[in-house]
Amino acid sequence: MRRSITHQLYFINTNDMLNILAENIISKRDRIKIGPKINFDNIPTDSEKGFPLLSISEEFYSFDDVILTEENKHRLEYIITENQNSKKLRSFGLKPKQKILFCGPPGTGKTLSAKIVGSVIGYPFVYIRFDSIISSFLGQTATNLRKIFDFIESDKFVVLFDEFDIVGKKRDDPQEHGEIKRVVNNFMQMLDSYDGNSILIAATNHPQLLDSAVWRRFNEILEFKIPTATQREALFKKYLGVLKKMDNVNIKELVKKTVNYSASDIAVICEDALRMSVIQSKTRITDIELSWALKEQKRRKSIM
Ligand SMILES: Nc1ncnc2c1ncn2[C@@H]1O[C@H](COP(=O)(O)OP(=O)(O)OP(=O)(O)O)[C@@H](O)[C@H]1O
Ligand SMILES: [Mg+2]
Repeated sequence: MRRSITHQLYFINTNDMLNILAENIISKRDRIKIGPKINFDNIPTDSEKGFPLLSISEEFYSFDDVILTEENKHRLEYIITENQNSKKLRSFGLKPKQKILFCGPPGTGKTLSAKIVGSVIGYPFVYIRFDSIISSFLGQTATNLRKIFDFIESDKFVVLFDEFDIVGKKRDDPQEHGEIKRVVNNFMQMLDSYDGNSILIAATNHPQLLDSAVWRRFNEILEFKIPTATQREALFKKYLGVLKKMDNVNIKELVKKTVNYSASDIAVICEDALRMSVIQSKTRITDIELSWALKEQKRRKSIM
């Protein structure tokens, strides 16, 4: 039987609410601070236009910041363990798993998980968008890639190659631009011969665009999915933090209404609802804010 949550009230006093938001905002800001470990002088730049080919930051996250399947969480933790035991493994002629592929729809936690890996193992996080290294000048792309690999070989980083589909596009596709083909080959070669201590993660929304030659290059593949009902419940509890302490919170109803919503959609809904409550100086969150935020996200999704 469907339970109604009409005008159900979630009581939070304004001070609590402001504290929660302040905490969230501050902790987010804290997580993106640049630590002293990072040397900006060496960041490689595009040969032709001079813009930086990557961004680098120190992130401060833990596994508590993400809702994952137990299996994926263990896989990520095990990648960290292997890399922490790199010397031991190498003394037996073995290498830790360092080349990882993340597949899954937008907003399912690929970027967040890569940042968590960096945070937990304590390596700076390097972010590279593939399209930004593809130069309009033939030949420069290969140079750009070489510079990136030289840089990430110079120290220990967790490197995220985002929007990897651009190089993963089927190489036998006749419509494929020649430059992209070259990038695919170049990237594969560099990935193969990479012998540094960084953890290299490539992320894609379109694993079907990757051919088998690409898949083989990675020694671990993780699939990120649209959250299940149980995971959506955990996400609402996480993002509506304090509400879980209330007896009358009908999170189950929100869970029912968000089938096929990504984790990121749920984060947006919760933040929108919290923001609206604060703006209106409400002392409580009602399902009015939550329904409004849900409807707004539904609308945005329909446009996208
Ligand atoms: N599994 C998750 N658990 C908790 N929060 C999540 C999760 N996935 C996404 N989020 C929230 O959504 C935001 C965006 O997620 P993220 O950037 O990791 O998605 P993505 O999978 O990399 O998407 P894209 O394919 O568009 O790059 C996160 O910063 C976080 O607030
Ligand atoms: Mg991402």
